[in-house]
Amino acid sequence: TGYVTLDIGYKNTGATKSAITFLDGELGILKYRGYPIEQLAEKSTFIEVAYLLIYGELPTKEQLSDFQYQINRHTLVHEDMKKFFDGFPSKSHPMGQLSSLIGALAAFNPESLKQGLTTEEVNLEIIKLIAKMSTLVSWIHKKSLGHPVIYPQNKLDYVTNFMQMTFGELTEEYVVDPVVVDAMNKLLILHADHEQNCSTSTVRIVGSSDANLYASISAGISALWGPLHGGANQAVIEMLEKIKADGGDTDKWIAKAKDKNDPFRLMGFGHRVYKNFDPRAKIIKKACDDILEKLGVNDEVLEIAKKLEEVALQDPYFVERKLYPNVDFYSGIIYRALGFPTEMFTVLFALGRLPGWIAQWKEMKANKEPIGRPRQIYVGASDRDYKEISSR
Ligand code: CMC
Repeated sequence: TGYVTLDIGYKNTGATKSAITFLDGELGILKYRGYPIEQLAEKSTFIEVAYLLIYGELPTKEQLSDFQYQINRHTLVHEDMKKFFDGFPSKSHPMGQLSSLIGALAAFNPESLKQGLTTEEVNLEIIKLIAKMSTLVSWIHKKSLGHPVIYPQNKLDYVTNFMQMTFGELTEEYVVDPVVVDAMNKLLILHADHEQNCSTSTVRIVGSSDANLYASISAGISALWGPLHGGANQAVIEMLEKIKADGGDTDKWIAKAKDKNDPFRLMGFGHRVYKNFDPRAKIIKKACDDILEKLGVNDEVLEIAKKLEEVALQDPYFVERKLYPNVDFYSGIIYRALGFPTEMFTVLFALGRLPGWIAQWKEMKANKEPIGRPRQIYVGASDRDYKEISSR
């Protein structure tokens, strides 16, 4: 019934009005709540940006310390979750583990399933989710090593606590290098929101059915997993490693990416909205140089990445299609320098994107948006009569 506008992939369909993130793809501008991403990446911390995204304003000193305190109070995860977690094979993909663990949090927090939660009750679930996600991500990393999990130290700030749970050991005091904490803060801030992308739209649409917060975020994590979205950061490093093993011939791989009969795409290149430099990629590229130098890491794939970028940016195929490096092109090189295995990269993207997903879910609720339900243009068979199986 009625007139249906067809827009496969929602390339030009606005699904909502939002006051969270501003993005100008032609000019390469990104702002959270009006603040330029460059300033936030330079001056802020991840937890402050999380507050900004979720509550709309930069916190005062008291608001920030209260927010951090509330989060620290909830970093422990129910021990019964560990039994469930122990059942994952040690080689299972971190993203599969994360989406299941976050979905399971709904079962462990039955109070979150009630309809008509008060603002305070919703806020408590938000705090719990932010707190427990970092603990769960650290568990996943520990499992990949076959090591026991490390419990949170709640005197620490969010990022330092996360790094100590992830890289600390039981036997000795682990002191997190401030260079590492700065780098993580920057990366998480740069990933914190990006308006109506695939995973965020998933979170909003799942939440629009009044599904609980944990279920909505778990769905967003699944959407992020794909290599065309957050999974690109893992795919980039795998691609760079392949090119390195192949002798580092970037021209050959650029030719493959241009060949329409070859399914290979230059991972970490191109974006649905940016038709100019992804401003996040600019910041990450510079951070990548700085951090590797400060940590004294020399990674050959960084040179390959820079060479690929240089060649692609001069090639008419990429120029005409306005394909530039995106956020995923250099982020993996930093994650690797910090000690994360490749399979963890997309989980780190999810950890960074969490406040954005929460803010968008909360906004969708506050706006009382109706259930998301696109239409279609039917192109299947018209009337047919059922045939008995014996006569098919
Ligand atoms: N390598 C080679 N060709 C490309 C690439 C690429 N990375 N990206 C786009 N193209 C070509 C594509 O083949 C098409 O060419 P033609 O017009 O001749 O058919 C043209 O550029 C437009 O591409 P599209 O696929 O129609 O664009 P889209 O908006 O549907 O897709 C994208 C955007 C990000 C999925 C795509 O650029 C891509 O697959 N990039 C590689 C994966 C990647 O890096 N993803 C991370 C995105 S940023 C972070 C995030 O979202 O998580």
